Amino acid sequence: MRSGIYILEGLSPVSWLITILACLPGGNEGFSRLEKFAHESVLKRVRIKRDDDDVMSKLISAARDPKVANKIDMTFLTCDAMVIIIAGGDTVSITLSFLFYSLARYPHYVNHLRRELEHTDITDYRRLQALPWINALINETLRLYPPVPTAPLRQTPPEGLRIGERFIPGNVVVSTPLWSLGRLESSYTRADEFLPERWFPGSESIKDRRGFAPFLLRA
Ligand code: HEM
Repeated sequence: MRSGIYILEGLSPVSWLITILACLPGGNEGFSRLEKFAHESVLKRVRIKRDDDDVMSKLISAARDPKVANKIDMTFLTCDAMVIIIAGGDTVSITLSFLFYSLARYPHYVNHLRRELEHTDITDYRRLQALPWINALINETLRLYPPVPTAPLRQTPPEGLRIGERFIPGNVVVSTPLWSLGRLESSYTRADEFLPERWFPGSESIKDRRGFAPFLLRA
């Protein structure tokens, strides 16, 4: 995955250049390997009989030929699998790595977490959703180390867009890096410090929460 998405990392604002580079001999090698891996993963997943109502089971059933048993259209499935492998795998692994890194740096938070989880069924995600420490620790990790730290691109509407005092003309590509947004002193006190308590109700360490959007926002 690393070598496959390497080309996308620095060049995503100039997507046309990626297309050109990928056509050069050798330019596409990592990406092709990732594609092959995704294709093989789908074939493996199709063979596993699972009742789980997960993302992949929905996509596979949509790609099945309604008339011919076991015939599956792989055209989109391989690309869907690639998106899920990258979007679902890289993000969660980066978040968990930084969460454990932060717990190792500030071990007193481990005790809070242990106490909170001691009497909780950790397989019940609905219970986990309501727990203050685990949520505060995840939010603080996502604020300081967003797995999508750069800037997903958006295009302004044809009539242009006013953001605060500034007018941006129509059809212009804009972006706001989540890394920088998460570290604004105007939004958070001691913005560079790992302070999960700031997410507790009543805390005054969050001055402006509007920029906290690790999964981005709906238009
Ligand atoms: C810590 C966890 C995650 C974070 C912070 C995260 C964040 C993001 C962000 C910022 C985007 C870009 C959205 C945009 O441009 O509008 C995105 C897209 C996406 N994410 Fe996640 N995500 C996470 C986990 C997952 C998981 C577990 C899955 C699926 C299993 C997933 C599936 C997707 C998909 C399918 C897209 C759209 C990709 C595309 O069409 O370009 N994400 N995510």
